Amino acid sequence: MLTGDRPTGALHLGHYLGTLANRVRLQDEFEPFVLVADYHLLTTGLRRRDETERDIRDDVLGNLAVGIDPARATIYLQSQVPETAELFLLLGMLVSVPRVRRIPSLKDKLAEIHAAEPSFGLLGYPILQASDILLVGGEVVPVGRDQASHVELAREIVRSFNAAFGPTFREPVALIPEDGLLPGTDGDPKMGRSRGNTIDLFDDPAAVDSKVMAMYTDPRRVHATDPGRVEGNPVFAYHDAFNANPDEVAELKERYRAGRVGDVEVKRRLAHALNEFLHPIRARRRALLQDNPTIVEDVLRAGETRARAEARRTIDAVRAAMGLDYFS
Ligand code: TRP
Repeated sequence: MLTGDRPTGALHLGHYLGTLANRVRLQDEFEPFVLVADYHLLTTGLRRRDETERDIRDDVLGNLAVGIDPARATIYLQSQVPETAELFLLLGMLVSVPRVRRIPSLKDKLAEIHAAEPSFGLLGYPILQASDILLVGGEVVPVGRDQASHVELAREIVRSFNAAFGPTFREPVALIPEDGLLPGTDGDPKMGRSRGNTIDLFDDPAAVDSKVMAMYTDPRRVHATDPGRVEGNPVFAYHDAFNANPDEVAELKERYRAGRVGDVEVKRRLAHALNEFLHPIRARRRALLQDNPTIVEDVLRAGETRARAEARRTIDAVRAAMGLDYFS
């Protein structure tokens, strides 16, 4: 298993639903690799070193706090495995420019940075991601829906590579949860850091309370006695995803539809449920840091060694397959 995040800030509930829950589940079945994609971060522009360092730290701690086991998982920083860059260069030969131009996420990225044309590096974003996956022999890739086209490209690259140079890679499979898209607190269909509509895994209880109380709900409902809409209502989407008590959710939905419960009560119960869900995650983060204040540094150092050993094997095989092993 290989997956990762761009370290752009705190992990949030959308990440949990889209990929983190699957990561934790899959780590028992597959050898887990989790990368912190700091090269990918560069594709949309340089950030301050101290900010990125803080975000890398949060990303590693977030993965550990939700239950990725550092004893089993290889958690590593992409730029500490420079073999990634060599594979990226080689795989780039197999992909046409129009093919990467058609990747749907490119438009979003350009809008995000207010650019009309991508840099060469941004255009290569999904090829870099394919390099991540193939470098460590990734076969299952738990990701959110927005990443599907990137994994699809990785599969195409495998087919082209194997057809041209002999069987070398296995086609990776994306694991995308059916109901994995969590709306933002503002009702936007997607929770996202750049949208400022997230509830973060490390938000404290007071922050969760105030974000939930300010959440977008059924806009056509004026009074608690008006029948409310549950479908498409983000408050209920969160209840469905995170409330551990399905009977309470069913009862709230029934009363909401009948106009027998106010939004305030539904939200209070949601805030409570979310804090119940987040409490062990926050506690685990605290305990990990208490046990070992340099846990992030330690985990990344161990990850670098393990990932590079894997990477070296892949690069040797790729060079041999492509006939780049001259004079050996
Ligand atoms: N592109 C992913 C994102 O923005 C992060 C990522 C980089 C990734 N390399 C990866 C995900 C390899 C899965 C596999 O979230």
